[in-house]
Amino acid sequence: MTILDGKALAQKMQAQMAKEVSQMAVKPALMVILVGDDPASAVYVRNKARVAEKIGIHSETLRLPETTTEAELLELITKYNADPSWHGILVQLPLPKHIDEGRVLHAIDPKKDVDGFHSYNMGRLMAGHPAMVPSTPAGIIEMLKAYDITLSGKHAVVVGRSNIVGKPMAMMLLAENATVTVAHSKTADLADLTRSADILVVAIGRAKFVTAEMVKPGAVVIDVGMDRDENGKLCGDVDFEDVKDVASLITPVPGGVGPMTITMLMQQTIKACREQVG
Ligand code: GUN
Repeated sequence: MTILDGKALAQKMQAQMAKEVSQMAVKPALMVILVGDDPASAVYVRNKARVAEKIGIHSETLRLPETTTEAELLELITKYNADPSWHGILVQLPLPKHIDEGRVLHAIDPKKDVDGFHSYNMGRLMAGHPAMVPSTPAGIIEMLKAYDITLSGKHAVVVGRSNIVGKPMAMMLLAENATVTVAHSKTADLADLTRSADILVVAIGRAKFVTAEMVKPGAVVIDVGMDRDENGKLCGDVDFEDVKDVASLITPVPGGVGPMTITMLMQQTIKACREQVG
């Protein structure tokens, strides 16, 4: 079994990106908007700011109270859309329940949509002409390529159908000529299906859900989960200790998909800057 070291790959990419940014006449700038006080979101946002700084990307985090109205948030997005000093706008999810997430994500100018969550960008990806792309699945593809994993003709099973991970992941694997199955919480005989996967991507948000008997010997296992186990310790959707001897390659949590996600977000911000500055 080989561990797919997302942390090491992310650091290598970040060093390259820092060099690239140091040569840019206009520094990429990312506005991160955090509404409310979800503790996990606060950690994610802090990590994004830290990596941005390391690369030389200017970032600012706007922390808004839980009571912020949808109208107030939309007004801010309109303001940043029109301000050429911001190349990327990111609204951290989840949003408080009284705010319509779809309306907010669609208010972001698709050119500044570094998360790739606007329907314009999702549609481009689906049509095979990607523009801004979601960071988590993009980071997974980058990692699979860095480890020379053949995707063409392989059966890839994606467990999870979210707009953030599952759906765009399926589209990206399809674009790499994998045969893709998307499974989810209502899928019948899930273990039979996951056992047929050459590449298994798990993004369902349930701690240690995937066990050894759900994995084909020699499969590549990608764990998108960020969960807590029974002792409150950070773990993934895959039971790493159980699955590691069955899989040929596996991502750890932490140190697998997470660092790659942030790195790809920065890459999207650099791309957005280049396209807007021209
Ligand atoms: N919440 C969980 N993952 C993400 C992500 O990739 N982007 C944003 N904006 N919010 C998230």
